[in-house]
Amino acid sequence: MGRFITFEGPEGSGKTTQIRLLASWLRAQGHDVLTTREPGGTRIGDGIRALLLDPAHAEMRPETEILLFSAARAQLVGQIIRPHLGQGGIVLCDRFADSTLAYQGAGRQLDLATLRQITAFATGHLTPDLTIGLDLPVEEGLRRKRGGDQAEWNRMEQEQLAFHARVRRGFLALAEAEPARWLVLDAMQSVEDIQGRIRKRVAEHLTSERSVVT
Ligand code: TYD
Repeated sequence: MGRFITFEGPEGSGKTTQIRLLASWLRAQGHDVLTTREPGGTRIGDGIRALLLDPAHAEMRPETEILLFSAARAQLVGQIIRPHLGQGGIVLCDRFADSTLAYQGAGRQLDLATLRQITAFATGHLTPDLTIGLDLPVEEGLRRKRGGDQAEWNRMEQEQLAFHARVRRGFLALAEAEPARWLVLDAMQSVEDIQGRIRKRVAEHLTSERSVVT
């Protein structure tokens, strides 16, 4: 059985860099690694991503938003993630269902129980084996993300600071509720320090008995 590892955190937390470094390290050890991201990762998902992040779609309802994120997720899980896990591979995913609970739950303040139900339906109850959370102050994350040029921010990034502060707290609450699944790291540390800690935890995880149900 494969291993499903997700990366979560607020805007600009450096997930993409860390995933790239971890993937090459794991591949050098002979693992079959697939990296992907949400929303997107499939042709259908990339179409949905464009709808979701277009700053011109200011009228989008929160209910529409969660259903679109979930539709993209359902496609990614069924088309890409489960088949790879089924072949014994490792999947590294840039954001997954925890982002829905943090952004649409804590951020948009939609009902968490409903979000969990929709998510379970979309994923067929697939949950990550391990989740790496990269935490940093929201101002710093937004500054890093677009170098301060707000004109280029996507629809989610354009939300107020208070929204992003709720998202950050949402992630930390999710991690506190499931400490065995989460490794939360301070994203203000150097790229090398963060990567070192991630590799240590992933190595421990790969030698453990736990495996995903596919
Ligand atoms: P993206 O440019 O991929 O951001 P990042 O590099 O930070 O991952 O845009 C994805 C945006 O969508 C990001 O603001 C987080 C948000 N999002 C949700 O609101 N809900 C979700 O379920 C997911 C997966 C992402």
